[in-house]
Amino acid sequence: MKKIIAIDGHAATGKSTQAKKIAKYLGYKYIDSGAMYRAVTHYCLINGWINKLINLNSILENLKNIDIQFKTLNNFQITTLNGNDVEGYIRKMDVAKNVSKIAAIPEIRSFLVEKQRQIGLKNNVVMDGRDIGTVVFPETENKFFLTASIEVRAERRHEELKLNNESIDFSTVLENVKSRDLDDTSRLTSPLEPAEDAIIVDTSNYSVNEVFDKLISLIKG
Ligand code: DC
Repeated sequence: MKKIIAIDGHAATGKSTQAKKIAKYLGYKYIDSGAMYRAVTHYCLINGWINKLINLNSILENLKNIDIQFKTLNNFQITTLNGNDVEGYIRKMDVAKNVSKIAAIPEIRSFLVEKQRQIGLKNNVVMDGRDIGTVVFPETENKFFLTASIEVRAERRHEELKLNNESIDFSTVLENVKSRDLDDTSRLTSPLEPAEDAIIVDTSNYSVNEVFDKLISLIKG
């Protein structure tokens, strides 16, 4: 296995911003594991498998047809699903509303965890997610768990959605972040929790650069 830096934490704590910066700084590959769960959710939505009930049989039968890759386009990393750029779609609210249900399905987790481990066999990686330090790469030495207050996180996510041209009121975003916290921490398979040896970093009162400096000094130290 190559060098792995695991960055886990609650939704909208700045994990992906930090993971991207660290990967660039160290010359490692950046892997957004949340994008993989989002891409599977998008695939299920476009195929009509998520309604009041989830069509689990169809989803599981078709997992083998799902190919998720990360590519660089105009200096930005994008997620592709079966060769198509789905970056814009997977950040939308309909995916955000359904992704926790998809991420709670054990077979989908095993499928994506296996893909994440394969990437880590071939590359030095900074990977962000919920279970990277606990399940995907429990043996790595560099494990961080980012957290921040719920209001700060909802504000950050709201700004992100606005940049993505989605006009959604703040209270809806706040409710979505709250319900995803609940779903992430209460699911039976790989619930969100810090690994015993993870370093917990509260980002509420710090700028992106301050958090980055702290993480880099911990990695180097
Ligand atoms: O980091 P994010 O908000 O893009 O993640 C989207 C969803 O995917 C989130 O609700 C939790 C889930 N997820 C997960 O269960 N395990 C991961 N390693 C990454 C994300």
